[in-house]
Amino acid sequence: MSQSRVAAIDVGNDSVKALFGKLDSELYIPNVTAIDTEDRPVIGIEDLDKKDPLDGIHIRVHSPALQENNTIYRVGNLATKADNATELDPGSSKSEEDQTLVMLLASMALDAVKPENKQVFNRSNQVVEANYTLGTGLPLREVKEGKDVGYRSQLLGSVHQVEFLVTPKYQGLKVNIKLDEVKIYPEGFAAFINLVMDNNLNIINKDLIDKQILIQDIGGLSTDIAVIRNRNVDDDKAQGYNLGVSEALETIRDEINKKHGVELDSRRDVVDIITKKNDRNHIMVKGSRTSVHDITDRVLLELAKKQYRHLRNTWQRNSQTEICYFVGGGSSVLKDYIKTLNNSLDGFNIDFFEDEKESIWMMANAYYKLISEFIQQQSKDKQEKPAEKQKAASNK
Ligand SMILES: Nc1ncnc2c1ncn2[C@@H]1O[C@H](COP(=O)(O)OP(=O)(O)OP(=O)(O)O)[C@@H](O)[C@H]1O
Ligand SMILES: [Mg+2]
Repeated sequence: MSQSRVAAIDVGNDSVKALFGKLDSELYIPNVTAIDTEDRPVIGIEDLDKKDPLDGIHIRVHSPALQENNTIYRVGNLATKADNATELDPGSSKSEEDQTLVMLLASMALDAVKPENKQVFNRSNQVVEANYTLGTGLPLREVKEGKDVGYRSQLLGSVHQVEFLVTPKYQGLKVNIKLDEVKIYPEGFAAFINLVMDNNLNIINKDLIDKQILIQDIGGLSTDIAVIRNRNVDDDKAQGYNLGVSEALETIRDEINKKHGVELDSRRDVVDIITKKNDRNHIMVKGSRTSVHDITDRVLLELAKKQYRHLRNTWQRNSQTEICYFVGGGSSVLKDYIKTLNNSLDGFNIDFFEDEKESIWMMANAYYKLISEFIQQQSKDKQEKPAEKQKAASNK
């Protein structure tokens, strides 16, 4: 029989972060999809096996959970190049978008077909039977509206099939995904768990656990501020804003093009320029090293000011807050600007993660801890059950 493999997946508006198994495997995929209407012309099919599957995710997805069933999608890097690419609209509901499901299913399918996992799942011919126990999340707002219930039962209720079409290494493989259990956690709460628990689910931060804290998660397209009190997310206080770093990165890219005539390929290139260790804020223009510091400083400072205003408003309404943690990829980008503003303005007790990877993977790590704890608890319950039954019988 196939085992159930752990999947912890954060479907961010900007990118999907996924952790699998005993943390033996991880995936990072830009959250971009494009529907394919005709067969994709495949250039250089002869080197298909030399390419990275992640650069050519081309799949057909069969699932009753989708509004549009049996559709062909380009996903991630491959979709970025399509002219009908769609990114999640910050105003929409994650739980109601086909794109969220497509990203979840594509991630699990990519994990399931990995050669290392041949021992984990049954395979016959070209079909992989994959069982997962999934931990994932939704914005607090959607959980408050009860949307997690329908979302969960859609995932649990049927077998989903991902068929790899023109994808390097995996072309022709089909994966039947069956979810044995699905847990949906509210995003802000998950970040809190990650701060107070280690991977073995021990409390690592006793100081923090009973304090009132804020978690400001600055992502690609959105910012969420969670208020944690009594070890719980305060539903009424949580705030979400349609303001992330993507727009600022796009502005920087435009301005560099206008001023220096240099066309950067993507926002990712901008992130590299503003975060690299050596020669930060410099680009090459016709072979000369050129500073773009004026542009990056102005644009990022402006965004940092907006983010700081949100922090200040939230702190005013929650005056007994002891500390605010900044997480998400946007926090890494804005760290120095927000720190500088804070030093000259309110001097709030704020903290950042030094390691940008920790900041970006915060949510996925949290889901991993939570789903692992759930599995442990479940197996404990199973062991204890027979004893309980006996006890109940003898009490009669
Ligand atoms: N080292 C890095 N690698 C990737 N992205 C980075 C890095 N440092 C900063 N970023 C930026 O962080 C942003 C993405 O942050 P994050 O992954 O937290 O967003 P998300 O969770 O996908 O989106 P959202 O929170 O809006 O749903 C991107 O705009 C990216 O450019
Ligand atoms: Mg996020």
